[in-house]
Amino acid sequence: MAKPWYKKFFIALLIGGSLIFSMAAAKKIKIPPAPKGFTVKGDASQGKELFTANCTLCHGSHGDGKGLGGRDLNPPPTDFTNAKDMRERSDWRMFRVITDGGEKTGLSSQMASYKSVLTEQNIKDIILHIRTLAKKEKGG
Ligand code: HEC
Repeated sequence: MAKPWYKKFFIALLIGGSLIFSMAAAKKIKIPPAPKGFTVKGDASQGKELFTANCTLCHGSHGDGKGLGGRDLNPPPTDFTNAKDMRERSDWRMFRVITDGGEKTGLSSQMASYKSVLTEQNIKDIILHIRTLAKKEKGG
């Protein structure tokens, strides 16, 4: 027996809706679960200096992903000013991507691994700075 039209309609709506939702959300990535007790503590102003030296070329000085070196990349560098997306991004997730790079975590290989450049504490300081970049009015 054929399904009534409205059932198909609702299924289509459901699929379409979740598709739009997943597009707006932070991408799914491949990382191991966070170790127990992982915390990010440190110095956000130190992080700002490190971010300016290493990351703004692509991510932009305001963290909006529109740096000179990032403008033409596809996918573009992550926009750290979108508050909604940033809420979905755990400190552990950012720590892993910055440490291991995009290729290993299922993101763009344009995002390099910084484990030979930055210490774990450097990376934590940077994460604290990144957390200051989200604008409340953007993305709720
Ligand atoms: C050569 C350009 C470039 C530089 C330099 C760069 N990034 Fe990225 N970064 C990218 C791109 C492109 C992505 C997006 C990857 C994707 O969406 O597949 C990314 C993604 C990220 C993410 C992942 C966001 C998420 O989805 O969880 C973090 C965190 C990040 N970058 C932090 C940094 C930090 C910190 C630095 C400096 C130490 C840095 N990046 C330097 C290009 C760059």
